[in-house]
Amino acid sequence: MRLLRCYGVRSSARRQSAHSVTDQQLVRRLEIEADTLEEVLPTARDVEAAAARISDWLITTPVLESEVLNQRAGCRVLVKAESLQHSGSFKIRGALNRLLSLSHDERRAGVVAYSSGNHAQGVALAAKWLGVRATIVMPKDAPQIKLSNTRAFGAEVVLYDRYRDDRERIAADIAQQQGAALVPAFDHPEIIAGQGTVGLELAQFARRRRLPLDCLFVPCGGGGLVSGVGLSIKAAYPDCRICAVEPEAYNDTAISLAAGSRQIIAGYPQTICDALMTPTPGAITFALNRTLLATALAVTDAQAIHAMAFAARHLKVVLEPSGAVGLAAALAGAAADCDCVGVILSGANVDLDRYIAVLNDYPDP
Ligand SMILES: Cc1ncc(COP(=O)(O)O)c(C=O)c1O
Repeated sequence: MRLLRCYGVRSSARRQSAHSVTDQQLVRRLEIEADTLEEVLPTARDVEAAAARISDWLITTPVLESEVLNQRAGCRVLVKAESLQHSGSFKIRGALNRLLSLSHDERRAGVVAYSSGNHAQGVALAAKWLGVRATIVMPKDAPQIKLSNTRAFGAEVVLYDRYRDDRERIAADIAQQQGAALVPAFDHPEIIAGQGTVGLELAQFARRRRLPLDCLFVPCGGGGLVSGVGLSIKAAYPDCRICAVEPEAYNDTAISLAAGSRQIIAGYPQTICDALMTPTPGAITFALNRTLLATALAVTDAQAIHAMAFAARHLKVVLEPSGAVGLAAALAGAAADCDCVGVILSGANVDLDRYIAVLNDYPDP
């Protein structure tokens, strides 16, 4: 078994609680997952199968363009506004693909998920559409809009403390008690294939117009979105440079790519990008991303916030901080040497008071 090198694993004392994991347990969990990977890696065909399964339920989100953005980025920018998707993010795609892949009996037993908020809403809405009972484990400090939307879609919400509790353990216990199926947020072939359908739509748009899509910026937490999108874009544009974009405090994909194995972010750094606070890439997502990704870029919170204001002013689109990091990278000039970059706007679920404060901070973005 390969030994895992870790970048300063979190202090175990801080994580001890009834449901907490020790550093050793966490490292062992990563090693075990790494051993059983090969058979489960999804392919571009799985993304196409997912599209056939879920497309009729979903919005084909628009691809936007702005002359101001092209000038600032230094190349042509195709903006895939997935923030306009049902539930306000791409997460409904993977959730629906997973739920539609369950057997009748599995659906009757219900589903369990853990999420900082957008996956919660995606699972809750997909479950509502299919008449499936959903229980979602969410951090108690998640944005109010994410908590209230999840409840409004009919899911039961179980709160946890993101600094003390092990949400995977809590969800696994609930799943066992209820006999329910787990719907992971990113590290599952059906989830990755579902998220990949965003890329399929963008590739179809670009090919119809014969555009030379040579670069792509995708917000990255656990890596489900960027790996799925990477699969579908590479099938159409093999030379396209797929770039994950992370908040600088959670650059776990960047340091994992550099090390050649999954690394863990130490401590609990703060970032305004609440949906991207994932301390380590997934086993499946990293196995895909280490071959699909050209690089992983980091943006500051200030750049993400500026991108939110820019999107409001020039694209007329509402974004949450995590949904704006790909745009932030383009605005920072990271695609200036490209001909045509695709940018995924991945989510819009931001509390209104915070959003208004952002717009006030950047009156002329
Ligand atoms: C808005 C938004 N963008 C990007 C991501 C990152 O997705 P992934 O964890 O699949 O990398 C998330 C994950 O929750 C999200 O909510």
